[in-house]
Amino acid sequence: MQKTALVVGANGVIASNLIHYLLELGDWNIIGLSRRGGTDSEKLKYLAIDLLDAEQCKSKLIGLKVVTHIFYAAFQDRPTWAELVPPNLAMLVNVVEAVEAVAINLQHISLMQGYKVYGAHLGPFKTPAKESDGGHMPPEFNIDQQQFLENRQQGKSWTWSAIRPSVVAGTALGNPMNLVLVIAVYASISRELGLPLHFPGKPGAYDKLLEMTDAGLLAKATVWAATNDQCANQAFNITNGDLFRWNDIWPKIARYFNLETAPPLQLSLQTVMADKEPLWKQIQEKHGLAQHTYQELSSWPFGDAVFGWDYDFFGDGTKARRLGFHEFVDTENMFIGLFDELKAMKIIP
Ligand SMILES: NC(=O)c1ccc[n+]([C@@H]2O[C@H](COP(=O)([O-])OP(=O)(O)OC[C@H]3O[C@@H](n4cnc5c(N)ncnc54)[C@H](OP(=O)(O)O)[C@@H]3O)[C@@H](O)[C@H]2O)c1
Repeated sequence: MQKTALVVGANGVIASNLIHYLLELGDWNIIGLSRRGGTDSEKLKYLAIDLLDAEQCKSKLIGLKVVTHIFYAAFQDRPTWAELVPPNLAMLVNVVEAVEAVAINLQHISLMQGYKVYGAHLGPFKTPAKESDGGHMPPEFNIDQQQFLENRQQGKSWTWSAIRPSVVAGTALGNPMNLVLVIAVYASISRELGLPLHFPGKPGAYDKLLEMTDAGLLAKATVWAATNDQCANQAFNITNGDLFRWNDIWPKIARYFNLETAPPLQLSLQTVMADKEPLWKQIQEKHGLAQHTYQELSSWPFGDAVFGWDYDFFGDGTKARRLGFHEFVDTENMFIGLFDELKAMKIIP
Protein backbone atom coordinates (compact mmCIF):
# COMPACT_ATOMS: atom_id res chain seq x y z
CA MET A 1 0.00 0.00 0.00
CA GLN A 2 1.26 3.51 -0.81
CA LYS A 3 2.37 5.25 2.39
CA THR A 4 1.10 8.78 2.87
CA ALA A 5 2.40 10.87 5.75
CA LEU A 6 0.52 13.81 7.17
CA VAL A 7 3.26 15.84 8.86
CA VAL A 8 1.64 18.24 11.32
CA GLY A 9 3.61 21.36 12.26
CA ALA A 10 5.42 21.16 8.92
CA ASN A 11 7.54 24.31 9.33
CA GLY A 12 8.88 23.38 12.75
CA VAL A 13 12.48 22.56 13.51
CA ILE A 14 11.46 18.93 14.05
CA ALA A 15 8.82 18.44 11.33
CA SER A 16 10.74 20.22 8.54
CA ASN A 17 13.63 17.81 9.07
CA LEU A 18 11.20 14.89 9.15
CA ILE A 19 9.78 15.97 5.79
CA HIS A 20 13.29 16.19 4.40
CA TYR A 21 14.00 12.62 5.53
CA LEU A 22 10.71 11.24 4.16
CA LEU A 23 11.51 12.83 0.80
CA GLU A 24 14.94 11.21 0.89
CA LEU A 25 13.37 7.80 1.55
CA GLY A 26 11.43 8.26 -1.67
CA ASP A 27 8.56 5.85 -0.99
CA TRP A 28 6.32 8.30 0.87
CA ASN A 29 3.78 10.82 -0.33
CA ILE A 30 3.80 13.70 2.10
CA ILE A 31 1.26 16.28 3.15
CA GLY A 32 2.73 19.09 5.26
CA LEU A 33 0.28 20.89 7.51
CA SER A 34 0.78 24.22 9.28
CA ARG A 35 -0.71 27.73 9.24
CA ARG A 36 1.92 29.16 6.90
CA GLY A 37 1.88 26.33 4.32
CA GLY A 38 4.86 25.95 1.98
CA THR A 39 6.03 25.29 -1.57
CA ASP A 40 4.69 22.10 -3.15
CA SER A 41 6.81 19.60 -5.07
CA GLU A 42 6.08 16.24 -6.71
CA LYS A 43 5.85 14.18 -3.51
CA LEU A 44 5.06 16.98 -1.09
CA LYS A 45 1.88 19.05 -0.84
CA TYR A 46 1.24 21.67 1.81
CA LEU A 47 -2.02 22.52 3.53
CA ALA A 48 -2.37 25.86 5.32
CA ILE A 49 -4.74 25.25 8.23
CA ASP A 50 -5.15 26.69 11.72
CA LEU A 51 -5.43 23.62 13.92
CA LEU A 52 -7.01 25.62 16.72
CA ASP A 53 -10.07 25.99 14.49
CA ALA A 54 -11.96 22.67 14.71
CA GLU A 55 -14.41 23.61 11.94
CA GLN A 56 -11.58 24.54 9.56
CA CYS A 57 -9.90 21.20 10.34
CA LYS A 58 -13.07 19.27 9.52
CA SER A 59 -13.79 21.11 6.29
CA LYS A 60 -10.22 21.27 4.98
CA LEU A 61 -9.09 17.77 6.04
CA ILE A 62 -12.14 15.92 4.72
CA GLY A 63 -10.30 14.93 1.53
CA LEU A 64 -7.40 13.20 3.31
CA LYS A 65 -8.63 9.65 2.77
CA VAL A 66 -5.16 8.50 1.70
CA VAL A 67 -3.33 9.32 4.93
CA THR A 68 -1.72 6.19 6.44
CA HIS A 69 0.52 7.88 9.04
CA ILE A 70 0.09 11.05 11.07
CA PHE A 71 3.33 12.57 12.38
CA TYR A 72 2.33 15.17 14.93
CA ALA A 73 4.94 17.83 15.79
CA ALA A 74 2.95 21.08 15.97
CA PHE A 75 3.48 23.39 18.91
CA GLN A 76 1.83 26.51 20.30
CA ASP A 77 3.99 28.46 22.74
CA ARG A 78 2.47 30.04 25.86
CA PRO A 79 4.05 31.88 28.82
CA THR A 80 3.23 29.28 31.50
CA TRP A 81 3.20 25.47 31.68
CA ALA A 82 -0.50 25.50 32.53
CA GLU A 83 -1.38 27.71 29.58
CA LEU A 84 0.36 25.31 27.19
CA VAL A 85 -2.21 22.60 27.82
CA PRO A 86 -5.47 23.81 26.20
CA PRO A 87 -4.13 24.91 22.77
CA ASN A 88 -1.68 22.02 22.41
CA LEU A 89 -4.26 19.42 23.35
CA ALA A 90 -6.91 21.04 21.13
CA MET A 91 -4.65 21.03 18.05
CA LEU A 92 -3.94 17.29 18.40
CA VAL A 93 -7.59 16.44 19.08
CA ASN A 94 -8.79 18.52 16.11
CA VAL A 95 -6.44 16.94 13.60
CA VAL A 96 -6.90 13.37 14.84
CA GLU A 97 -10.70 13.62 14.94
CA ALA A 98 -10.85 15.11 11.44
CA VAL A 99 -8.39 12.72 9.79
CA GLU A 100 -9.39 9.53 11.59
CA ALA A 101 -12.94 10.03 10.36
CA VAL A 102 -11.90 9.88 6.71
CA ALA A 103 -8.55 8.01 6.50
CA ILE A 104 -9.74 4.44 6.11
CA ASN A 105 -6.21 3.02 6.01
CA LEU A 106 -4.82 4.95 8.96
CA GLN A 107 -2.03 2.83 10.46
CA HIS A 108 -0.18 5.00 12.92
CA ILE A 109 -0.13 8.26 14.84
CA SER A 110 3.29 9.45 15.99
CA LEU A 111 3.36 12.05 18.78
CA MET A 112 6.40 14.28 19.30
CA GLN A 113 6.98 14.81 23.01
CA GLY A 114 10.03 15.83 25.05
CA TYR A 115 11.58 15.61 28.52
CA LYS A 116 8.79 17.75 29.95
CA VAL A 117 7.18 14.33 30.46
CA TYR A 118 9.87 13.78 33.11
CA GLY A 119 9.55 17.24 34.65
CA ALA A 120 12.95 18.20 33.21
CA HIS A 121 11.82 21.81 32.74
CA LEU A 122 10.82 22.17 36.40
CA GLY A 123 14.15 21.53 38.11
CA PRO A 124 16.52 18.70 38.96
CA PHE A 125 14.87 15.45 37.87
CA LYS A 126 15.85 11.81 38.01
CA THR A 127 18.58 11.01 35.49
CA PRO A 128 18.88 9.07 33.34
CA ALA A 129 15.14 9.46 32.78
CA LYS A 130 13.47 6.27 31.62
CA GLU A 131 10.28 5.85 29.65
CA SER A 132 8.93 3.74 32.52
CA ASP A 133 9.53 6.44 35.20
CA GLY A 134 6.53 7.65 37.17
CA GLY A 135 4.87 10.89 36.07
CA HIS A 136 4.70 14.27 37.83
CA MET A 137 2.00 16.65 38.95
CA PRO A 138 -0.04 18.11 36.05
CA PRO A 139 -0.62 20.40 34.19
CA GLU A 140 1.65 19.03 31.47
CA PHE A 141 0.52 19.04 27.85
CA ASN A 142 2.65 16.11 26.65
CA ILE A 143 0.89 13.85 29.14
CA ASP A 144 -2.59 15.06 28.18
CA GLN A 145 -1.76 14.50 24.52
CA GLN A 146 -0.51 10.97 25.16
CA GLN A 147 -3.54 10.11 27.29
CA PHE A 148 -5.81 11.35 24.52
CA LEU A 149 -4.10 9.04 22.00
CA GLU A 150 -4.08 6.07 24.39
CA ASN A 151 -7.83 6.42 25.00
CA ARG A 152 -8.66 7.10 21.38
CA GLN A 153 -6.69 4.06 20.18
CA GLN A 154 -8.75 1.60 22.24
CA GLY A 155 -10.49 -0.80 19.84
CA LYS A 156 -8.90 0.76 16.75
CA SER A 157 -6.65 -0.86 14.17
CA TRP A 158 -4.12 2.00 14.15
CA THR A 159 -1.32 2.27 16.71
CA TRP A 160 0.56 5.20 18.26
CA SER A 161 4.10 5.96 19.37
CA ALA A 162 5.48 8.82 21.47
CA ILE A 163 8.95 10.13 20.70
CA ARG A 164 10.90 11.93 23.43
CA PRO A 165 13.94 13.89 22.24
CA SER A 166 16.24 15.99 24.40
CA VAL A 167 16.99 19.53 23.14
CA VAL A 168 16.64 19.30 19.36
CA ALA A 169 19.28 20.69 17.02
CA GLY A 170 18.49 21.52 13.42
CA THR A 171 18.37 24.36 10.96
CA ALA A 172 14.94 25.97 10.66
CA LEU A 173 13.76 29.55 11.07
CA GLY A 174 10.98 31.15 13.05
CA ASN A 175 10.92 28.56 15.84
CA PRO A 176 10.60 29.41 19.52
CA MET A 177 12.91 26.51 20.48
CA ASN A 178 16.07 26.44 18.39
CA LEU A 179 19.27 26.24 20.45
CA VAL A 180 21.66 26.07 17.48
CA LEU A 181 20.36 29.42 16.18
CA VAL A 182 20.61 30.92 19.68
CA ILE A 183 24.29 30.01 19.88
CA ALA A 184 25.09 30.94 16.27
CA VAL A 185 23.48 34.39 16.40
CA TYR A 186 24.83 35.13 19.91
CA ALA A 187 28.36 34.18 18.80
CA SER A 188 28.09 36.20 15.57
CA ILE A 189 26.98 39.28 17.51
CA SER A 190 29.76 38.76 20.09
CA ARG A 191 32.28 38.71 17.24
CA GLU A 192 30.85 41.83 15.64
CA LEU A 193 31.16 43.64 18.98
CA GLY A 194 34.72 42.42 19.52
CA LEU A 195 33.73 40.46 22.63
CA PRO A 196 35.00 37.08 23.84
CA LEU A 197 32.42 34.30 24.00
CA HIS A 198 30.98 34.22 27.52
CA PHE A 199 28.78 31.27 28.39
CA PRO A 200 25.61 33.28 29.07
CA GLY A 201 23.97 30.75 31.42
CA LYS A 202 24.03 30.01 35.12
CA PRO A 203 27.55 29.31 36.36
CA GLY A 204 26.24 26.01 37.76
CA ALA A 205 25.00 24.97 34.31
CA TYR A 206 28.51 25.09 32.82
CA ASP A 207 29.71 21.76 34.21
CA LYS A 208 26.50 19.71 34.23
CA LEU A 209 25.95 16.70 31.99
CA LEU A 210 23.47 17.06 29.17
CA GLU A 211 22.63 15.67 25.79
CA MET A 212 21.13 16.79 22.51
CA THR A 213 19.05 15.21 19.76
CA ASP A 214 20.01 15.92 16.17
CA ALA A 215 16.89 16.67 14.10
CA GLY A 216 18.06 14.34 11.30
CA LEU A 217 18.59 11.46 13.74
CA LEU A 218 15.22 12.24 15.33
CA ALA A 219 13.52 12.01 11.93
CA LYS A 220 15.00 8.56 11.34
CA ALA A 221 13.91 7.35 14.78
CA THR A 222 10.41 8.77 14.37
CA VAL A 223 9.84 6.91 11.09
CA TRP A 224 11.43 3.76 12.52
CA ALA A 225 9.03 3.75 15.48
CA ALA A 226 6.03 4.56 13.27
CA THR A 227 6.67 1.69 10.88
CA ASN A 228 7.87 -1.05 13.23
CA ASP A 229 5.18 -3.23 14.84
CA GLN A 230 7.34 -3.87 17.89
CA CYS A 231 7.14 -0.16 18.75
CA ALA A 232 3.34 0.07 18.77
CA ASN A 233 1.68 2.02 21.59
CA GLN A 234 4.90 2.92 23.39
CA ALA A 235 7.18 5.85 24.14
CA PHE A 236 10.88 6.15 23.24
CA ASN A 237 13.65 8.49 24.39
CA ILE A 238 15.64 9.46 21.31
CA THR A 239 19.03 11.11 21.81
CA ASN A 240 22.38 11.44 20.06
CA GLY A 241 23.85 8.74 22.29
CA ASP A 242 26.63 10.80 23.90
CA LEU A 243 26.68 13.28 26.80
CA PHE A 244 28.57 16.54 27.08
CA ARG A 245 29.29 19.46 29.40
CA TRP A 246 29.22 23.05 28.19
CA ASN A 247 32.66 23.63 29.77
CA ASP A 248 34.09 21.15 27.27
CA ILE A 249 32.12 22.15 24.17
CA TRP A 250 31.89 25.95 24.70
CA PRO A 251 35.59 26.65 24.01
CA LYS A 252 35.30 24.57 20.81
CA ILE A 253 32.28 26.62 19.74
CA ALA A 254 34.25 29.79 20.50
CA ARG A 255 37.14 28.53 18.35
CA TYR A 256 34.75 27.79 15.49
CA PHE A 257 33.63 31.44 15.54
CA ASN A 258 37.25 32.68 15.94
CA LEU A 259 36.54 33.97 19.42
CA GLU A 260 38.33 33.78 22.77
CA THR A 261 36.45 31.81 25.43
CA ALA A 262 35.47 33.86 28.47
CA PRO A 263 34.22 32.63 31.86
CA PRO A 264 30.46 32.20 32.35
CA LEU A 265 28.58 35.47 32.78
CA GLN A 266 24.89 34.95 33.34
CA LEU A 267 22.71 37.14 31.13
CA SER A 268 19.06 37.22 30.26
CA LEU A 269 19.45 36.75 26.51
CA GLN A 270 15.83 37.77 26.10
CA THR A 271 16.71 41.16 27.66
CA VAL A 272 20.16 41.86 26.22
CA MET A 273 19.35 40.70 22.69
CA ALA A 274 16.13 42.74 22.51
CA ASP A 275 17.92 45.84 21.14
CA LYS A 276 20.24 44.02 18.69
CA GLU A 277 17.97 44.10 15.64
CA PRO A 278 19.66 47.16 14.03
CA LEU A 279 23.08 45.59 14.68
CA TRP A 280 21.93 42.35 13.07
CA LYS A 281 20.76 44.29 10.00
CA GLN A 282 24.25 45.83 9.73
CA ILE A 283 25.81 42.35 10.01
CA GLN A 284 23.48 41.08 7.28
CA GLU A 285 24.44 43.91 4.93
CA LYS A 286 28.15 43.77 5.68
CA HIS A 287 28.33 40.02 4.96
CA GLY A 288 25.70 39.80 2.20
CA LEU A 289 23.47 37.51 4.27
CA ALA A 290 19.99 36.30 3.30
CA GLN A 291 17.28 38.75 4.33
CA HIS A 292 15.63 36.91 7.22
CA THR A 293 14.07 39.00 9.95
CA TYR A 294 15.78 39.19 13.33
CA GLN A 295 12.59 37.72 14.86
CA GLU A 296 12.94 34.62 12.68
CA LEU A 297 16.38 34.07 14.18
CA SER A 298 15.45 34.70 17.79
CA SER A 299 14.72 31.93 20.29
CA TRP A 300 16.21 33.88 23.20
CA PRO A 301 13.81 32.75 25.99
CA PHE A 302 14.57 29.13 25.03
CA GLY A 303 18.30 29.87 25.24
CA ASP A 304 17.79 31.34 28.70
CA ALA A 305 15.92 28.21 29.75
CA VAL A 306 18.50 25.71 28.44
CA PHE A 307 21.52 27.66 29.74
CA GLY A 308 19.77 27.94 33.09
CA TRP A 309 19.68 24.19 33.72
CA ASP A 310 22.15 23.90 36.57
CA TYR A 311 21.35 20.21 36.92
CA ASP A 312 22.06 17.10 34.85
CA PHE A 313 19.74 16.77 31.88
CA PHE A 314 19.65 13.41 30.16
CA GLY A 315 17.53 10.38 29.48
CA ASP A 316 18.19 6.70 29.01
CA GLY A 317 18.26 5.90 25.30
CA THR A 318 18.63 2.14 25.56
CA LYS A 319 15.00 1.18 24.98
CA ALA A 320 15.06 2.26 21.31
CA ARG A 321 18.42 0.54 20.87
CA ARG A 322 17.12 -2.69 22.39
CA LEU A 323 14.33 -2.70 19.84
CA GLY A 324 16.66 -2.06 16.93
CA PHE A 325 17.31 1.67 16.44
CA HIS A 326 21.10 1.96 16.50
CA GLU A 327 21.87 5.33 14.89
CA PHE A 328 23.98 7.82 16.84
CA VAL A 329 25.41 11.29 16.31
CA ASP A 330 28.58 12.85 17.76
CA THR A 331 27.25 16.03 19.39
CA GLU A 332 30.42 18.07 18.91
CA ASN A 333 30.49 17.28 15.17
CA MET A 334 26.76 17.96 15.02
CA PHE A 335 27.18 21.54 16.31
CA ILE A 336 30.00 22.25 13.83
CA GLY A 337 28.04 20.69 10.95
CA LEU A 338 24.94 22.76 11.73
CA PHE A 339 26.96 26.00 12.04
CA ASP A 340 28.49 25.17 8.63
CA GLU A 341 24.95 24.70 7.24
CA LEU A 342 23.82 28.06 8.67
CA LYS A 343 26.81 29.69 6.98
CA ALA A 344 26.11 27.95 3.67
CA MET A 345 22.49 29.12 3.88
CA LYS A 346 23.83 32.67 4.46
CA ILE A 347 21.91 32.91 7.74
CA ILE A 348 25.07 33.76 9.74
CA PRO A 349 28.39 35.23 8.50
N1 LIG B 1 12.73 22.27 19.65
C1 LIG B 1 13.17 21.52 20.63
O1 LIG B 1 14.34 21.66 21.06
C2 LIG B 1 12.29 20.45 21.26
C3 LIG B 1 12.87 19.57 22.18
C4 LIG B 1 12.10 18.56 22.74
C5 LIG B 1 10.77 18.46 22.43
N2 LIG B 1 10.20 19.35 21.56
C6 LIG B 1 8.75 19.21 21.29
O2 LIG B 1 8.51 18.89 19.93
C7 LIG B 1 7.28 19.49 19.50
C8 LIG B 1 7.56 20.33 18.26
O3 LIG B 1 8.53 21.32 18.62
P1 LIG B 1 9.29 22.22 17.57
O4 LIG B 1 10.40 22.90 18.30
O5 LIG B 1 9.59 21.48 16.33
O6 LIG B 1 8.16 23.29 17.29
P2 LIG B 1 8.19 24.54 16.30
O7 LIG B 1 9.50 24.65 15.62
O8 LIG B 1 7.66 25.70 17.06
O9 LIG B 1 7.12 24.11 15.22
C9 LIG B 1 5.77 24.07 15.50
C10 LIG B 1 5.00 24.02 14.20
O10 LIG B 1 3.61 24.05 14.52
C11 LIG B 1 2.95 24.87 13.58
N3 LIG B 1 1.78 25.43 14.25
C12 LIG B 1 1.76 26.18 15.37
N4 LIG B 1 0.50 26.54 15.64
C13 LIG B 1 -0.29 26.01 14.67
C14 LIG B 1 -1.69 26.04 14.40
N5 LIG B 1 -2.52 26.71 15.19
N6 LIG B 1 -2.13 25.38 13.33
C15 LIG B 1 -1.29 24.72 12.50
N7 LIG B 1 0.03 24.65 12.72
C16 LIG B 1 0.54 25.28 13.78
C17 LIG B 1 3.98 25.96 13.19
O11 LIG B 1 3.89 26.38 11.84
P3 LIG B 1 3.07 27.66 11.36
O12 LIG B 1 3.65 28.83 12.10
O13 LIG B 1 3.28 27.69 9.88
O14 LIG B 1 1.67 27.35 11.74
C18 LIG B 1 5.29 25.16 13.27
O15 LIG B 1 5.57 24.59 12.01
C19 LIG B 1 6.77 20.30 20.71
O16 LIG B 1 5.82 19.54 21.41
C20 LIG B 1 8.00 20.50 21.56
O17 LIG B 1 7.69 20.64 22.94
C21 LIG B 1 10.93 20.33 20.96
